[in-house]
This record gives sequence, C-alpha cells and structure tokens, in this order.
Amino acid sequence: MLKISEGVYWVGAIDWNLRFCGSYTTPRGTTYNAYLVIDEKIALIDTVKSGFEAEMLERIKEIIDPAKIDYVICQHAEADHAGAMPELMKIIPQARVVATPACKDIISEHFPMSRAWNIQTVKTGDQINLGQKTLRFIQTPMLHWPDNMVTYLKENGVLFSNDVFGQHIATNQRYDDEVGQPVVEEATKYFAVIVSLYSSLVQKKIKEIEEMALGIKMIAPAHGVIWREPGKIIDAYKRWSSGVAGRKVTIVFDTMWHSTEKMAGEIARGLMAENVEVRVFNLRSSDWSEIIKDIIESRMILVGSPTLNMGMYPTVGGFLTFLKGIKPQNKKSAAFGSYGWGKGAVKAITEELVKMNFQVLDGLEIKFIPDREELQTCFQFGKKLAQEV
Ligand code: FEO
Repeated sequence: MLKISEGVYWVGAIDWNLRFCGSYTTPRGTTYNAYLVIDEKIALIDTVKSGFEAEMLERIKEIIDPAKIDYVICQHAEADHAGAMPELMKIIPQARVVATPACKDIISEHFPMSRAWNIQTVKTGDQINLGQKTLRFIQTPMLHWPDNMVTYLKENGVLFSNDVFGQHIATNQRYDDEVGQPVVEEATKYFAVIVSLYSSLVQKKIKEIEEMALGIKMIAPAHGVIWREPGKIIDAYKRWSSGVAGRKVTIVFDTMWHSTEKMAGEIARGLMAENVEVRVFNLRSSDWSEIIKDIIESRMILVGSPTLNMGMYPTVGGFLTFLKGIKPQNKKSAAFGSYGWGKGAVKAITEELVKMNFQVLDGLEIKFIPDREELQTCFQFGKKLAQEV
C-alpha cells in the first residue's frame, strides 16, 4: 500500500517490460498510475492499461472494497489510462465517470458498453466535493489529446497531471528524488517526443495554472514517479517549451562508405575545440527517441547524408519526417554530406530544414572521400558553426 498524501494512495501498475509506447522506445519500461482518494465519497483518478486490471484491483483491495468507489475520474481516454475501465465498471456500474466532453466522446468510441455508464462531463473550474476533500478540474486540450484534463486535490495540494510531467520508467520507487538522474532523462525524452509539438499550449497552460495560485505541493502524473518538488519539473517544461537550450549541438548522419561519417567526426571536433557540447548519432544504429531528447536540449542540429539517387539517404528522410512532426522550436541547423558524381543530399536536407522553420545555415559538401585538406575544411566548418551557438 502506498500512501502519497493524507487519504491519497497510489494504486497503479508497473509495466517492467514495455519497450515501445506509441511513437517511441521505452527501454526502462513504464508505470500506469491510478490514484485513490478516500473521503466520505471515494474517487479513483485514472485507471491502467488493459491487461493490468488485476494488479490495480489488488492494490485498491489493500485499502477498500473496489465496489465502494463512487467516482472514476477519467482524465484521458487513451488506452494506457482508460483501458481498464470496462472491467472496473463491471464491478461499480453505479459509479459516476467524470470526464471532459471530448473525453466522453472518445470513451464512447473506444468502449461501446460505455452507453450504460453514468458519465458526468466537466470543464475548467468545475469541482466535485468528496466530503472534506475537493477535486477541481482543469482542461488541458492537446496536452496531448483533445480530451485531456488535470485534477487538483485542493486540501492536499496534489495535482494529478495525467500524461503531462510523466516519464516512462518502471521502478519500485515512487518519487523523483528517490530515483534521480534517470527520471530527468526520461522526463526530457517524454516531453521531447510527446509534448513538444504543443509547446505554445504548454506555455499558456502553465501561465493559466500559475495565475490560479493553487499552491501545488506535489505533482502526480500518470506515468513514472511523483514530483515532490513541483517547481523542478514545471521550470523544466517552461524551459523546454520555450526552445531555450544550452551551448550544445546534435549531429545526426547516415553514411555509405564512411565519408559522411568522417565529416561528422571532424565537424564535431571543430565544435568541441570551441567548447561546445556535442552529441553525434549514426541514425542507423541509434535510438531515434534518444536523439530527439538531445535535440530538444541543443541550439543547433546538423544533418548529414551521402547523396543517393540525387537525394538523401532513406534513413535520413525517415528521421526528418519524425523530426518534422515534433517541430522543435528556436533551433539553428545545417546539412552536410559526401557525394560522388552528382550532388543532391545537402540541397534536399536543407529544404526539409527550412520547412521546419529552423534558421538554416550554409551546408558543406565533399566529393567522394574527404582527404586531409577536406577534413580540415570540416574541422573549420565546425569551428565556424560554434560561433552560431
Ligand atoms: Fe496519452 Fe499515457 O497516454
């Protein structure tokens, strides 16, 4: 039994072996966090993924008879949080499901049996009184689905934030300060891949919530661990969503006969000579979700490809498609690559970088294998780019 605050319990499930979720890799697994709030009335905030119903119900049974639950607060209808609802609602058909209007629509699409459920829709500012405790709802549309909302438990100062502020990490610890750096890494990756596309909405919503002066003491997301120092993750979200980054450059490339790889190495050396933090990824052997995490923390992205059939490598094209969907803000970029008898990759990459609204700098092309002098050109190219970060 894990009590996280007076009358509030974590009753979620741990998915130790999840290795892919939605659009990205989850090497550390994840958790599906459900929370039980005990008062004169009993509320369950979110459920778990289908297949984990028994684990959640066992945790609830350690505290109360699940049949006594009065409210199921469905903050988001995606299957990893609402998937257990059909099984749960068989036990508590009388319970009231609380959701935003958009969430109600998605519930009805996902679960045809939900027509028999008693669903109450709520909007920002609505409250439910449980007795001594009050649940206040705040809609957070497009963070990251149209249906999302967060719930504030006023008397305890706990913000149940659903996907926002989450991290995919499976651990027996339940608080960020118990885990440390891996949580920060996973939270960064989570923001980068799931939330960053909606950065402007993040900025507006954080401002709106700060203006409510709620006095948040704890943030309990639906994945990973709980933030006992809310300011830490709120400040990180402000920073990431503004596009502000350190003096760091991420270089991604693919290579045919190692010429573009050699260029990447020398460009990196040039940047490092100017004390710029650098990360270099071969797209063929790297985890693309990890790369996105580093890009969010970088001021500049360099993309390298050999010319193949007058264009870029398919791996590079695929990665740029992934990146275009995520739309990182306020980045500088440039393309580089080797070619044989005809150019094409650098031009094609540059066009894609322009479409992403990056500030695109002149690229660098080398014919066939870079010789000593051309490697020096790459090194100087890196040094020159260092002035831009
Ligand atoms: Fe949007 Fe964790 O589901």
